[in-house]
Amino acid sequence: MSDENRQLLLRERPLGVVTDECFEMARTAVPQPGDGQILVRTLWLGFEPAMRGWLNDIRSYTPPVGIGEVMRAWGIGQVVDSRHPDHAVGSLVHGDLGWQDYALLDGGDTGIERVPDGISDPRLMLSVAGLTGLTAYFGMTEVGRPEAGDVVLVTAAAGATGSVAAQIARALGAGRVIGTAGSPEKRDWVREVAGLDDCLDHHDPEVRRAIRSAAPEGLNVVFDNVGGSLLDAALFNIAVGARIALCGSISTGYRPERPEVGIHYYQLLTTRRSRMEGFLVSDHSDRYTEARQRLLDWVADGSIRVEYDVLDGLEHAPEGIRRLFEGKNLGKQLLHVADPG
Ligand SMILES: NC(=O)c1ccc[n+]([C@@H]2O[C@H](COP(=O)([O-])OP(=O)(O)OC[C@H]3O[C@@H](n4cnc5c(N)ncnc54)[C@H](OP(=O)(O)O)[C@@H]3O)[C@@H](O)[C@H]2O)c1
Repeated sequence: MSDENRQLLLRERPLGVVTDECFEMARTAVPQPGDGQILVRTLWLGFEPAMRGWLNDIRSYTPPVGIGEVMRAWGIGQVVDSRHPDHAVGSLVHGDLGWQDYALLDGGDTGIERVPDGISDPRLMLSVAGLTGLTAYFGMTEVGRPEAGDVVLVTAAAGATGSVAAQIARALGAGRVIGTAGSPEKRDWVREVAGLDDCLDHHDPEVRRAIRSAAPEGLNVVFDNVGGSLLDAALFNIAVGARIALCGSISTGYRPERPEVGIHYYQLLTTRRSRMEGFLVSDHSDRYTEARQRLLDWVADGSIRVEYDVLDGLEHAPEGIRRLFEGKNLGKQLLHVADPG
């Protein structure tokens, strides 16, 4: 075990793109756990667009990361020293480890979860069995609620959440599931590996018409990760009684200023008697165990295919956020920090 703990601290808040210079690498001694604490070696870190929002000095559903603090990040780690009875040395845990080699955690913190024994690959806890998959699950089953034969559109369908949401819709019996994605490679993956019926290019200036061609009878469900003009193009194509699940709006860049991006076709919600509803995965935390089991069953029977996009080395963590906003990731963006001991 190294005696040095590298930590990426927030140096300055980004205005636009998250640059490497927004962070500084500190090197400190590896801390010793006190009573009730555990020391966790970071193995994997996950990246979510929300992390860009945590860098803004704006209070949201979670407080911003402070200047000089370790960047907040969910990860998988191995307990290397323990003074808490529930956490044996060697076991794997999932929680807010931050961008650092070692995290000193309160062993009783309910946010620290043991990676269940049945999970063959711990990366599943950062993707389909973690907040990503749970977001897709609750957004699709509680808000989108596809019925047999429905036509479903999922934006950012080659991304971590969208790919799972789309495959859930198919597993629930939707008639036709269509995605959007930004590159030919991603669209091939969505059709050929994830098995969606079609995948459209969201850069196409005629995407509104492309949706109309792909779904001439209209969209019954929209699961939207993107917002802005793509959401507008989807709204233009809704059927009567459509459900639009607002999962996220990555096209806004989650920058500190609230961009004045309007949607034009909201009046169709009235004439087509439809419902548009936002949701947060954390609203359903009492049902995570049940949802996770269902998701893992779908992975086991081949209904859900999971893809990872892996960076290597703690120093590359800022790039992990950038890749999401530049559309470079296919599947869940991860960063490998270390192997288990
Ligand atoms: N409601 C909740 O509780 C909750 C929880 C977690 C995440 N979310 C939201 O879920 C969404 C997906 O998150 P994720 O972690 O799964 O990320 P992701 O989809 O794996 O990565 C983001 C993807 O968004 C696409 N994108 C980026 N900028 C875009 C733009 N300007 N226009 C269109 N597409 C763009 C890119 O794919 P392309 O190549 O297709 O452009 C990129 O790969 C985000 O909006 C996030 O905020 C919501």
